[in-house]
Amino acid sequence: MIYGVILAGGIGSRMGGEKPKQYLNLKGKPIIIYTIEKFFTCPDFEKVIVLCPEKWVEHTKNLIKKYIAPADGKVIVTEGGNTRNETIMKAVDFIESEGTLDENTIIVTHDSVRPFVTHRIIKENIEACRKYGACDTVVPATDTIVESADEKFISGIPNRKIMYQGQTPQSFKALKLKKLYSTLSDEEKEILTDAAKIFVLKGEKVALTDGETFNIKITYPYDLKIAKSLLEDEE
Ligand code: CTP
Repeated sequence: MIYGVILAGGIGSRMGGEKPKQYLNLKGKPIIIYTIEKFFTCPDFEKVIVLCPEKWVEHTKNLIKKYIAPADGKVIVTEGGNTRNETIMKAVDFIESEGTLDENTIIVTHDSVRPFVTHRIIKENIEACRKYGACDTVVPATDTIVESADEKFISGIPNRKIMYQGQTPQSFKALKLKKLYSTLSDEEKEILTDAAKIFVLKGEKVALTDGETFNIKITYPYDLKIAKSLLEDEE
């Protein structure tokens, strides 16, 4: 079975404000609704699991009722975790509790604050995950990446030709992810803020799939301005 997993468990501290950024309105609809719609309308998913902070669960359910009424039954809202990876693992736990976690279970995990994901990206994720067990969505790095270990001086400038910027979705065979995650020490869990990195660290292949430059993550207030103009372009 293939599950869409929408990660909405964060509080958006870099955005600021009273509510987590995924609930901010963009041209009349909360950001999270745009994202859920992209997944809900993708026929490959058996179910779409939306994970958000505990106190936002009811609100999220109400938003779905209001904006995507037919989603009832296919879209499930539940509580996320303290870190992004814990939120992903809660989705895996949910699938296990439903009795449908096996070698073929695929999860397509996606940031709730990337509303411009396309069905092409989702489909290519599913294909790559079926074939390789894990994949990440990327675009080639346009800026030169400069590394600084001490935040003062440059410690390295990697060759831009082999650098990419990571986006989401990231897709995984769920049972494999669960097994790998269970082998991590607390220290490793702290460093591994990115789920694909768990596979890489454990020597497992993660395939690249093509993202889009417009598949932006809304992180800062400036990104809201970009998102608004992207929506105007779609009109
Ligand atoms: N996320 C999650 N569970 C967490 C933390 C983050 O599901 N415990 C989700 C966020 O809701 C978001 C996505 O992961 O959709 C990408 O994370 P990020 O942009 O860092 O979101 P926040 O953690 O909310 O932002 P900030 O770091 O500014 O607090």
